[in-house]
Amino acid sequence: MTEQKTWSQRFESALHPAIARFNASINFDIELIEYDITGSVAHAKMLAKTGIISAEEGEHLVAGLEKIRQEYRQGFFRPGVDAEDIHFAVERRLTEIVGDAGKKLHTARSRNDQVGTDTRLYLRDQIGQIRGQVREFQEVLLNLAQQNIETLIPGYTHLQRAQPVSLAHHLLAYFEMSQRDWERLGDVCRRVDVCPLGSGALAGTTFPIDRHYTAELLGFSNVYANSLDGVSDRDFAIEFLCAASLIMVHLSRLSEEVILWASQEFGFVTLKDSCATGSSIMPQKKNPDVPELVRGKTGRVFGHLQAMLVLMKGLPLAYNKDLQEDKEALFDAVKTVKACLEAMTILLREGIEFRSERLAEAVAEDFSNATDVADYLATKGVPFREAYNLVGKVVKTCLAAGKLLKNLSLEEWKELHPAFEGDIYDAITPRQVVAARNSYGGTGFVPVRKAIEEAKCRLNS
Ligand code: ARG
Repeated sequence: MTEQKTWSQRFESALHPAIARFNASINFDIELIEYDITGSVAHAKMLAKTGIISAEEGEHLVAGLEKIRQEYRQGFFRPGVDAEDIHFAVERRLTEIVGDAGKKLHTARSRNDQVGTDTRLYLRDQIGQIRGQVREFQEVLLNLAQQNIETLIPGYTHLQRAQPVSLAHHLLAYFEMSQRDWERLGDVCRRVDVCPLGSGALAGTTFPIDRHYTAELLGFSNVYANSLDGVSDRDFAIEFLCAASLIMVHLSRLSEEVILWASQEFGFVTLKDSCATGSSIMPQKKNPDVPELVRGKTGRVFGHLQAMLVLMKGLPLAYNKDLQEDKEALFDAVKTVKACLEAMTILLREGIEFRSERLAEAVAEDFSNATDVADYLATKGVPFREAYNLVGKVVKTCLAAGKLLKNLSLEEWKELHPAFEGDIYDAITPRQVVAARNSYGGTGFVPVRKAIEEAKCRLNS
């Protein structure tokens, strides 16, 4: 700990070392360094453009800031806890590099509008990257769907076999969820895309700044209309954490399915060695660690959302140091979502193999064609509820006799109802059961092929 004081001469002694550590955010807000530099470059240019500092001073500041960026990238600039936070760290280093001009950088600015600007620049960048990852994930889902239009898989409600579906249809359900994730992140971005710089500490500034110019230099579409709101708003972070939580909900649901599918009880998929792990004691085991970790990490992101909501709910206007706590939540959520998207994309791309024989067996050996028997009768004029009751009875008889519907003879069918003809057998094959569901959004091969074409258009638009 140096004796250097960060604040004005009002302070007579340095901070207690433990309090300095407690107060500091440099250990985590170092993540913002490049955004902080970018924000400061724009601020310096604006100060020069408006004549608040000279053009030459402006140039010195910009050059010094870019030098710090290089030093950081090359690993020479690693500020310690004595710098308190990234904003002080950069300003100090700048003054070391450019001399007294460095002391002018903070004119007409506060760390409060500065940190808000940095956080938005960071999030805008990260959201762009995450959206790119969501697109990649969608591409993998779409490819897998395309290869499996005619692969059938049991469809479930209540985790009970319900009706068979095309595996492509099942995978496209996740494509739709991801599409909403992608769109939702875009919506969030519109609220991230507002510049608070120039709000000052809370009330604006006495200098003739040009807020629209800095916003434009930083690529923001809007500026905060109210300085108090500008320095204390974290709605955009909460919205991002909501969007991130929903991405995790979707990844976690898929994970849960992969875990079930990989179990011996289901046996629908095999995990490739590159994406599965073994047990230290049970030599026969191959574990689905990737989806399990994704499912597990989901709770972390939900936790960050909850923490952020609680962080905000009691804060009086405007800036409060509580807001420093927004960063670790945000950074960890960003890292977690990115890591999970990457892992699940790899898993689907090359780590999972659907066991077609096992799937074919699964859809053929049950009563998931019972609705189709009722539909068959209903098509022939029998009221559906009557048909439904009749098929219920048939299923009961079959269960008692250890038979499936396909094992009934034509005489037995006719005994049940005279409307049955020889074509009942074709109507209840798993393939026909799936093929017949041609309603819009259904699992029939025709709508599924159409859905794949539409999905491709959406990816390319
Ligand atoms: N490290 C602080 C944060 O993350 C920067 C802003 C500090 N502002 C202040 N008035 N103490 O929020």
